[in-house]
Amino acid sequence: MVKEHKSVLRKIGTAAVLLFLVACASTKKESRIIADFNPDWNFKLGDHPTAIQADFDANDWRTLDLPHDWSIEGTFSKDYPTKPKQGALPAGIGWYRKSFTLPESAKNKSIAIEFDGVFCNSEVWINGHYLGKRPFGYISFSYDLTKYLNFGNQKNHIAVKVDNDAQPSSRWYTGSGIYRNVRLVTTNKLHVAHWGTVVTTPKVSAEKATVDYTVSIQNDSDLQKEFKVITDILDANNRSVARLEATEQIGANALLEKGQKFEVQNPKLWDTKNPNLYKVVTKIYEKSTLVDDYETPLGFRYFAFDAEKGFSLNGVPMKIYGVCLHHDNGALGAVANYHAIKRKLTIMKEMGVNAVRMAHNPPSLEMLQLCDEMGFIVQDEVFDVWKKKKVTHDYNKYWDEWYKRDLEDFIKRDRNHPSVMMWSIGNEIREQFDSTGISITKELAQIVKSLDKTRPVTSALTENVPEKNFIYQSGALDLLGFNYKHTDYGTFPERFKGQKIIASESVSALQTRGHYDMPTDSIRMWPKKYGEDFDGNADWTVTAFDNIASFWGTTHEENWKAAKKYDFIAGTFVWTGFDYIGEPDPYPYPARSSYFGIVDLAGLPKDVYYMYQSEWSEKDVLHLLPHWNWTQGKLIDVWAYYNHADEVELFLNGKSLGSKAKKGDELHIAWKVPFEAGTLKAISRKAGKIVKETEIHTAGEAAKIDLKSDKTSIKNDGYDLAYITVSLLDKDGNPLPTADNLINFKVSGGAKIVGVDNGYQASLEPFKADYRKLYNGKCVVILQSNKKAENITLEATTAGNISLGTVNIKVE
Ligand code: GAL
Repeated sequence: MVKEHKSVLRKIGTAAVLLFLVACASTKKESRIIADFNPDWNFKLGDHPTAIQADFDANDWRTLDLPHDWSIEGTFSKDYPTKPKQGALPAGIGWYRKSFTLPESAKNKSIAIEFDGVFCNSEVWINGHYLGKRPFGYISFSYDLTKYLNFGNQKNHIAVKVDNDAQPSSRWYTGSGIYRNVRLVTTNKLHVAHWGTVVTTPKVSAEKATVDYTVSIQNDSDLQKEFKVITDILDANNRSVARLEATEQIGANALLEKGQKFEVQNPKLWDTKNPNLYKVVTKIYEKSTLVDDYETPLGFRYFAFDAEKGFSLNGVPMKIYGVCLHHDNGALGAVANYHAIKRKLTIMKEMGVNAVRMAHNPPSLEMLQLCDEMGFIVQDEVFDVWKKKKVTHDYNKYWDEWYKRDLEDFIKRDRNHPSVMMWSIGNEIREQFDSTGISITKELAQIVKSLDKTRPVTSALTENVPEKNFIYQSGALDLLGFNYKHTDYGTFPERFKGQKIIASESVSALQTRGHYDMPTDSIRMWPKKYGEDFDGNADWTVTAFDNIASFWGTTHEENWKAAKKYDFIAGTFVWTGFDYIGEPDPYPYPARSSYFGIVDLAGLPKDVYYMYQSEWSEKDVLHLLPHWNWTQGKLIDVWAYYNHADEVELFLNGKSLGSKAKKGDELHIAWKVPFEAGTLKAISRKAGKIVKETEIHTAGEAAKIDLKSDKTSIKNDGYDLAYITVSLLDKDGNPLPTADNLINFKVSGGAKIVGVDNGYQASLEPFKADYRKLYNGKCVVILQSNKKAENITLEATTAGNISLGTVNIKVE
């Protein structure tokens, strides 16, 4: 059974593809085989045009498993054409090649290769035949290989050229290579077409839902066929809650669209807290033989944007608590690993986030699948530029030839995901400033509507003078997205009468995890105006007190106060949930990753994470900042984020420093405390009853290394990851908040180290290494299954009289 958009696939190598096909041909049980085509590729940097030939010898090329990003393997340099804005990592050209055999029995099958994303300008050849080019590095695509394949002992050779040489190719770090999953899909001649289903739910209530479903059935054979199509709607326990059957005929080499309408009684609705999922499963039979089996995700939900009341889901008004996320996964680079994405979303969910804006290009399939499963509302965004560029080698170069195809493919791939609730046709598009914006917006919106009428079309705008904004003037947007207009929200109902509005991007405040500058009495903007330098710190840090912001943005607190105040603002997408590689504004090299994240690049929360948690989640929160290791007598600003309480009392070494409570719309409380080593403790109380207690301690000398794994076991599948957070503890177990010791790692058993990071935006240490310096007391090691069925031990050592740290992880 195919799981549309599911990348947790059978892990089948070249030989196994063959065995599997033989087995399935003989048992006739498998009607569709989705083979994981990631393992065992050859790769070489540079241009190797002769690699398309069958007799090309790639033996001296490196062997690797996809997904792969060669940029992240490089060392940093300010001299690369990528520049710090693109991560100061190497790009260039690279070739991939893979040889495989197929059994004779596959001769009568249809065989396609699916690429989820290749950055960028990919060109693909099979056995010397050119299959095509896809310039857009974020789009998913597939090629039909059937007529070029060899069967039996004769090998097939697939070659992929990836050309990310012309730089800059995006405004941020892109990664280079086949950075998302690849599958080989084998079907019978009669099969469901690629992205061949559309499911919508025209009427949804807790009592009853209707489902409109269309499946495109493709006949690749020269014979007319009669077949039966049986579609079931399955609930989470795989029980059928609705079924339809029909007998159809299809001509030779033809495509047939079959529509089916269902009713489901008492559907369990999908929402952000209970993301109940169903699936639509279509089976195609020729006589009594099952010839295809295809699955599409389904969620029952209804939502609305209202010009006065904002957003509601299933009739319940709610604010969109959103973050913008770029596609990179920190130390893994652009590599789309299911487990890395799940960790990213888990950290966001814990903070209280309920929505993600896919900034600014189509995300990986795994991202959307996880948003469906974990309950995130998605603003799915396709372009950062249209015809007018932002950087020299932007997508605008390909616009005329490709925009229609890319936009259509984007919608076709993503339209069945219940999490997707908005289509953004562009971010801060230049055409909003001139009249060409009108016709392009109209055309793009019309393309979207021709493929999906169930979601609003939006665009992230920066011009909020209506007569100057030509994207708005087009009248083709259903929902207006505004980036950074928090100071003007009050004027919107008047300016944009009757319009539905969301803050598509906000904040752009700057912070380095664990670094604190005092005093914190005022908010500072970087810079005050264009062209002005940032008078920042010599070590390229920015304080983690929430009081430094870009001048177009504001602090997290100020933004949230504004978004919260107005019901008509459907919600806010904070720039950004995580730091990302590239765009290290406001600093020059060696800064090479962004400061905008609520969480750092290694996945370690900055303090403001807890401000959001106190506002957006239901958890009891009481968080103190900064740390408690200072020089005697220094006047320290102590902030507390808290919720569910009337007041917070602060104690230093047992002595009360008094109670405080947030006033008006305040989001934190603050004290000024002369430093004295020991214990700083806060107690929050509601009606006199303790809600939560939090303590921080002055740490002494380092005594041992502490390793904390996010998982106690991982799968032996070559993909699963464990993230281990490393810190130093004193003899009493207190973490050292400013330690910067170099830690060396040794791993044994079923895992390898695939990344190290400490979240410091100006670190020039490589991401691929078995060592890392702590930064403000912490770093993270990422382990990936190496397919060995052996339990894992990670050992961490450092110089001096400090005990080593070990952690054991089971392999299942
Ligand atoms: C926005 C833009 C984002 C990012 C951000 C940084 O204008 O949409 O992609 O560049 O600024 O503040």
